[in-house]
Amino acid sequence: IAFDGFVNAPDADYSQDRERTAAEKAIQSVLHQFGKTYFPVINGESIPTASFVESLNPSNFKQVVGKIGLASIPQADLAVTAAKQAFPAWKKLSPKSRGDILRKAADLMEAQRAELTAWIVWEVGKPLREADAEVSEAIDFCRYYAKEMERISQPHQRNVPGEDNTYIYQPRGVVVVISPWNFPFAIALGMSVAALAAGNTVILKPAEQSSVVGAKIAEVLQASGMPKGVFNYLPGIGSEVGAHLVKHPNVHLIAFTGSQQVGCQIYADAAILRPGQKHMKRVIAEMGGKNTIVIDESSDLDQAVVGVMNSAFGYAGQKCSACSRVVVLSPVYDNFLHRLVEATRSLVVNEAHLPNTKLGPVIDADAQAKIRSYIAKGHETAKVALEMPVPEHGYYVSPTILSEVEPESAIAQEEIFGPVLAVIRAESFEQALAIANNTPYALTGGLYSRTPSHIDRAYREFEVGNLYVNRGITGALVDRQPFGGFKLSGIGSKAGGPDYLLQFLEPRVITENT
Ligand code: SER
Repeated sequence: IAFDGFVNAPDADYSQDRERTAAEKAIQSVLHQFGKTYFPVINGESIPTASFVESLNPSNFKQVVGKIGLASIPQADLAVTAAKQAFPAWKKLSPKSRGDILRKAADLMEAQRAELTAWIVWEVGKPLREADAEVSEAIDFCRYYAKEMERISQPHQRNVPGEDNTYIYQPRGVVVVISPWNFPFAIALGMSVAALAAGNTVILKPAEQSSVVGAKIAEVLQASGMPKGVFNYLPGIGSEVGAHLVKHPNVHLIAFTGSQQVGCQIYADAAILRPGQKHMKRVIAEMGGKNTIVIDESSDLDQAVVGVMNSAFGYAGQKCSACSRVVVLSPVYDNFLHRLVEATRSLVVNEAHLPNTKLGPVIDADAQAKIRSYIAKGHETAKVALEMPVPEHGYYVSPTILSEVEPESAIAQEEIFGPVLAVIRAESFEQALAIANNTPYALTGGLYSRTPSHIDRAYREFEVGNLYVNRGITGALVDRQPFGGFKLSGIGSKAGGPDYLLQFLEPRVITENT
């Protein structure tokens, strides 16, 4: 992809006094806003609900970050009607006018960066720097998709004597966005603004665990001048309201990021033609991974130890891009493992808002129990190279390194989505690559090597959507590393890349006899 002038928004620079102070102030100011109630926003109006759920601070579950009003099925229908009614006028606006609204949203996010970061930190237990990077990514999505839509909307002409042919795109209609809690701001906003830039209207159903951040998205988009009904915020129970929206005959496209189980269910449900439905639905689903980094005997271990540690334990391993398996060639295995364990031991595990915290909690009690059950399996089937004491007043899980893991074992095959790393031994590069490719997923992967033939082979044979050589495997940047996988990691083209918006559009050709 050629450089076309897109510049990624820089993260906050916490080495500057001013930015550090702003972050500390915002952390305190958001703490004082805890406990408020957030309702669905349909057609620009806040709608009262009969049931609620509390969103807790995962770092300290005695604190209620906010109360969420849960939408009912009739309210979901109301949101679809609002989005459908708002569609014709939004579709008619020029890509430039729609893009200007998204660019305004990006500017507002820049201005509110510290406060938005603080909401993410508190609601999903994400350490400060990583939460800040999420705001940068959201800003990038707004500006990138606005610009992309202007590029795509240039009509493609193919005229011959006596005949003009014009190739154009039009939006699809009502888009339902079902977003995850692990990137509650960037991914929810990214999927939404892609749909909006392309001229569709949107209903956002955020994850139950991160619906307060979802409400912040609604606030920013409303303040940016988005007309009523174009973007609707619909918190609710996924298995009820989410499932209902997927099956709704007036919905055209579902953009989903989350578990493989839910993604497969959405794919199946969306395939069924419902009474009154006059179109086929499209599903975009990003569904996770079991990502591997290969360390060969020529690798720079100083680089590899830090890269693996950050990729495995950043946001407590709760990124779909996270490293959960490292395959190490025998000659460097013991040395690498020893150094990785000592480096990981130095990570500070504590509440996400504290400035020196490297590793916060996991999202909730269910996640904590599930991850711990995998660690228990690890005790039975592998060697435990590292487990550490962790605080008890939040949903903490010890960063855990399991060594001599069998490549076929559950620890090495199933997505754990927590701070658990399986270290696997390989006798040759060929075997390492075979182990890396032997999962049902194909999202991210990495190689640390200074052997050109190994790097060359990984380019061709390492079966992942995003391959990183001699660096960590998380933190894809919009436009620079368009992000997404294949196999059971998902369906659809890469977020933050040149093909992404095409999924939200219908191509048309007009031929005129002249
Ligand atoms: N895009 C994120 C990353 O690259 C994961 O969703 O880490």
